[in-house]
Amino acid sequence: MSPFRITRTLPEDATGAALRADVRRGLTGSPMTLPPKWFYDARGSELFDEITTLPEYYPTRAEREILLARSGEIAAASGARTLVELGSGSSEKTRYLIDALTGLRTYVPVDVSESALALAGRALVAERPGLEVHALIADFTAGLALPGTPGPRLVAFLGGTIGNLLPAERAAFLASVRALLAPGDALLLGTDLVKDEEVLVRAYDDAAGVTAAFNKNVLTVINRELGADFDPAAFEHVARWDAEREWIEMRLRSRTAQTVKIPAVDLAVDFAEGEDLRTEVSAKFREEGVRGELAAAGMESVRWWTDGEGRFALSLSVVR
Ligand SMILES: C[S@@+](CC[C@H](N)C(=O)[O-])C[C@H]1O[C@@H](n2cnc3c(N)ncnc32)[C@H](O)[C@@H]1O
Repeated sequence: MSPFRITRTLPEDATGAALRADVRRGLTGSPMTLPPKWFYDARGSELFDEITTLPEYYPTRAEREILLARSGEIAAASGARTLVELGSGSSEKTRYLIDALTGLRTYVPVDVSESALALAGRALVAERPGLEVHALIADFTAGLALPGTPGPRLVAFLGGTIGNLLPAERAAFLASVRALLAPGDALLLGTDLVKDEEVLVRAYDDAAGVTAAFNKNVLTVINRELGADFDPAAFEHVARWDAEREWIEMRLRSRTAQTVKIPAVDLAVDFAEGEDLRTEVSAKFREEGVRGELAAAGMESVRWWTDGEGRFALSLSVVR
């Protein structure tokens, strides 16, 4: 068997159909919203990787610090022979886990970004002889089916990506992850923590404008895929902290009154001057909340680690 396989789990047009449905629903609602998964074409994945290196974007460095310190403990506790990673992107931090898991046979990265999976998967099989990489192009919110690889399994969901799901979506998602786990399997979850507003907002509105370009990339995706005529320069990148819901929102604010045509869904969308399109929420967490959400999904959080500055947490959960 080849050490690198990439499998599309959705029919060829499922992505297009899902984008059309999300655009139709999201741009006819009030307020207007889009799910963040549409940022991640090849350019969006590149821009996200660039964000992870920015001085303002602390989550990647904080999570890397925890993984560097704790991968040995995580490996000893899980003993995984299969590592599944949801929203794996570049799989860059995952290398700490892969190296620590001495009995690991198969790595299953799961992402909507085919380009990210191909780049990361090819690099990993070249670097780690003996490791089988079975990448899945899939939407982790849409009923994931995993390949029949040997257990125990460790499912990793890093980067704080869980915060991009709204609370009800999170509950459904965690229940679906629970359904993938057998007794002896574990979930490793990365969650960004509530902190000072200024630090949070700067992480999503960097001085170099990379996050702004990432945010506007969703307009380029819709232009290309659905024949729309968004002018990215006619929108301003906005990041704001919602203290009540404890989440960051990224928005695109229309600089003028304008109408955007989206032929593939037969829509003409009117934007008032200053009207916002919400493109992402990024929830920030507290320990009790994370443990509670995991328990509600039928998982028991057995370990909780933070970085030295208490900015980010990794939790390890099991099913009994
Ligand atoms: C915030 S990035 C995190 C990447 C990496 N895990 C890290 O920690 O740096 C989110 C990743 O999840 C992927 N993603 C977002 N929504 C997804 C979905 N619904 N299904 C599968 N992958 C998704 C994106 O393509 C991207 O690679």
